[in-house]
Amino acid sequence: MSAGAGEDTAARRVRGRFITFEGGEGSGKTPQSARLVDWLSARGIAVRRTREPGGTPGAEAIRDLVVKGADGRWSALAETLLMFAARDDHLRQVIRPALEAGEWVVCDRFVDSTIAYQGYGRGLGRAAVDDIAAVVVGDTRPDLTLILDLPPSVGLARAAARRGTETRFESLDRTFHDRLRAGFLEIAAAEPDRCAVVDAGAGDTDAIFAAVSRIVAEKLFEEQSGDG
Ligand SMILES: Nc1ncnc2c1ncn2[C@@H]1O[C@H](COP(=O)(O)OP(=O)(O)O)[C@@H](O)[C@H]1O
Ligand SMILES: [Mg+2]
Repeated sequence: MSAGAGEDTAARRVRGRFITFEGGEGSGKTPQSARLVDWLSARGIAVRRTREPGGTPGAEAIRDLVVKGADGRWSALAETLLMFAARDDHLRQVIRPALEAGEWVVCDRFVDSTIAYQGYGRGLGRAAVDDIAAVVVGDTRPDLTLILDLPPSVGLARAAARRGTETRFESLDRTFHDRLRAGFLEIAAAEPDRCAVVDAGAGDTDAIFAAVSRIVAEKLFEEQSGDG
C-alpha cells in the first residue's frame, strides 16, 4: 500500500448531487423538477432531469405496466418488484453514470415513492421495501429530497384535470391517498437532514418554486455561496 490516496482523490471527479422530488398525485413534482433543472443550469451546473418509474427505454416500458390499467392487475409485491426492476435499470444506465461523471441528477420520484405507495398505501410494509432497496439501490441515495405535501383532495383534483391515461393510482380511494401522504411525512420526520417538506397546496408554481430553490440553496450551496 502506497500513500497514493491523495492522487486518487485529485484524479477522481467530484460526484454530482442527487435531488429527488416526492409527493402524491398532482402535487407539482413535474413542473417543480423542470424549474429546478433550469435554475441549476442557469448557475452553470451540468444537470440531468429524469423520472421514475422510467428514465430508460426498459424502465419506461415497465412504467406503462404499473401506471396504466386495472388496479387489480398486480399484487402489492409484484408491483413493488416491477418498480425496483425499473429502478435497477435506471440506476445502472442513467443515475450512477451521471453522478460519477459529476453531473447533478434531478429525479421526479424515487425510493420514497415505493415506500409510500407500496409500503404504506398498498400495505406491504416499509421493511420489505427497505430490504429490496438495500439490494437494488445500495448507497446511491439522494442528497436532498423535496417532499411536496398537500391534501390528497387538492392533488387529485389537479391530477384529474390533466386527463391523462396514467390513472391507475389516481383512481384508488381516498384512504389509500391519505396513507401515502402520512407515509411521506413519516419518511421526512425520520430523515430530517435529507428531506424537506414543502407546502405544495397553497400558492402557484412560482411561489412553490421560491421555497424549493431556497431549500436547495441552503442545503447544497452552503459552502459555495454566502449570498442567496
Ligand atoms: N402550484 C400549483 N397550483 C395549481 N396547479 C398546479 C400547481 N402545480 C401544478 N399544478 C397543476 O396540477 C396538475 C397536476 O400537477 P403535476 O405537476 O402534474 O403533479 P405531479 O407531477 O406531482 O403528479 C397539472 O395540471 C399542473 O399544471
Ligand atoms: Mg408528474
